[in-house]
Amino acid sequence: MIKYILSLLVTLTLAAASPGIATAKDAHSYANVEAVTSTHLHLDVTVDFDRKVLHGTAEYDIRRLDAEVRSFILDSRDLDIAKVEVLVGDWQATTFKLAEADAILGSKLTVALPAKATKVRLHYATQPKSTGLQWLTPAQTAGKKYPYLFTQSQAIHTRSWVPIQDTTGLRLTYTARIRTPKALLAVMSAPNDPTVERDGDYAFTMPHKIPPYLLALGVGDLKFKAMSENTGIYAEQYILDAAAEEFADTYKMMEVTEKLYGPYRWGRYDILMMPPSYPMGGMENPMLSFITPTVIAGDKSLVDLIAHELAHSWSGNLVTNASWDELWLNEGTTSYVENRIMEEVYGPERALMEQALSNQGLLRSLKDMAPVETSLHVNLDGKDPDAAFSAVPYDKGKSFFFYLEHKYGRDVFDSFLQKYFTDHSFQSISTEQFIAYVKTNLIDKHPGVVSMEKIREWIYGTGMPADAPNPTSDIFKIVLQQQSDWLAGTMTLDAIPTAGWAVHQWLHFITNLPADLSVARMADLDKAYALTASRNNEIAHAWLLQSLRHDYAAITPRLRDYLPNIGRLKLIRPLYKQMATTPEGLKLALEIYRPARPGYHPMTQRVLDKILGE
Ligand code: BES
Ligand code: ZN
Repeated sequence: MIKYILSLLVTLTLAAASPGIATAKDAHSYANVEAVTSTHLHLDVTVDFDRKVLHGTAEYDIRRLDAEVRSFILDSRDLDIAKVEVLVGDWQATTFKLAEADAILGSKLTVALPAKATKVRLHYATQPKSTGLQWLTPAQTAGKKYPYLFTQSQAIHTRSWVPIQDTTGLRLTYTARIRTPKALLAVMSAPNDPTVERDGDYAFTMPHKIPPYLLALGVGDLKFKAMSENTGIYAEQYILDAAAEEFADTYKMMEVTEKLYGPYRWGRYDILMMPPSYPMGGMENPMLSFITPTVIAGDKSLVDLIAHELAHSWSGNLVTNASWDELWLNEGTTSYVENRIMEEVYGPERALMEQALSNQGLLRSLKDMAPVETSLHVNLDGKDPDAAFSAVPYDKGKSFFFYLEHKYGRDVFDSFLQKYFTDHSFQSISTEQFIAYVKTNLIDKHPGVVSMEKIREWIYGTGMPADAPNPTSDIFKIVLQQQSDWLAGTMTLDAIPTAGWAVHQWLHFITNLPADLSVARMADLDKAYALTASRNNEIAHAWLLQSLRHDYAAITPRLRDYLPNIGRLKLIRPLYKQMATTPEGLKLALEIYRPARPGYHPMTQRVLDKILGE
């Protein structure tokens, strides 16, 4: 008990002394940031496509918070550490110990730290199985001539490509020198110079402090196209123009977000188009969002993804969740801001349809979840943060912010959020710190509107509060009315005015088809609307999933084409999962999966291996 109180005192004192350092120990990092923190990283690595490894050095400037500390503890996973040096006047070798790997956390790396050391330099190499890297052969790219490499660091994969104190409670600046084959371009989560000479030797300086999960690198046969003075696209040539057109509203999005929540603090905002095997939709790497090409639909219908990743420039990158237990602080705020951006740029009808779609999705997925998983704040001790990923931090989080907005009105709530971003910029925040901030700046300031019990119910309670917002769209009501008229036989499919339908209407129509719809009726729908042939990846996804559920086998050729060519887990995981529910389905799934597997990202492979029992 005494020991507990003492350590609590130490942490509290340290937290007070160093704003931005989280109070609680991050369960997903071994790093001793409470005693010694890295303040700056200089990364110097060579990208070796033949061996599928990065090798070079990671050098840290360190700051001691505890003068007695004699070890510098970092996180690592599947790294080969050749030697470690410390700067004590001049560089000298030091000893280190790489512990046996933990399945989730990787290997604790303990470096002996002499009393006067000011820098630490680690000589290391990654392994081809690094979970944070995907290496694509030329054949796996669209251009077929050059390879491609990209990182995906969130949540705890940075440690698989750089030895680092991999905790969200830390922030550091970085510089980097990246050596690549001469024909290729390297880009990072830092200022990228569109006019840089392509000579295989690239330098980066990130002047803003970022948490380690935002360290990112992409290398490929990349071209640049400007969208505005401070926004542009990096992509392989085949998709460069299409991406620049699809995302042409990026600058407008930035302007409206600045109007709502204060200045964009990072300088440029560029987008890197990922290969189709990218496992996420997008990743908010600072100054350079990584974006799946699966959202290029030709009609801007899926650009809420850009609004989302851009929104993270405020929520997440400026104000960062203190641990992965509080992912909702990053993703809930961002999903809310995303929807506000969509409303400003594309109007309230579209924003409302997007709210209604995601809320329905949330309610559906809550039904299959254990109650403890349905809290905004979760306890991931001993768990892999990737495995705990769900709609809750996103859509229940978003619902919570809409609840507050409705209660306080936009004037009050918008200025609250703007001040929240300003007051915590370049810092991390825990759920309890957030609650205290809400109490002072919202609850107590405007008494009698929302109680603290209510706030705690939203954050720690399970399921949805009884008075949670229930966004509905009149446009959707009409869609469902027409659907039921068709089901009742009082309206034919060609009489439904689908010509002017937005993608959202299609999604609503498809996801709400009755569970007992016959194969013949599925075929009627397909015949009337050519859904199997849809080139919109979200519509195709929704339709393929319903077809599997309804045993509509005519989609098999489309599945064979869709699944191997898309890596985005959100789109393919539910399809594989549904197939795995029947023996014939599983057989087909494996037939498609086995040859496709080498083209998927390591993370995707891990998830799908599990679903398909490989
Ligand atoms: N930061 C996330 C991606 C992420 C979350 C990676 C957790 C690893 C662990 C990113 O901003 C995101 O939310 N992407 C979504 C976008 C969607 C909700 C618009 C995606 O990839 O689908
Ligand atoms: Zn996000």
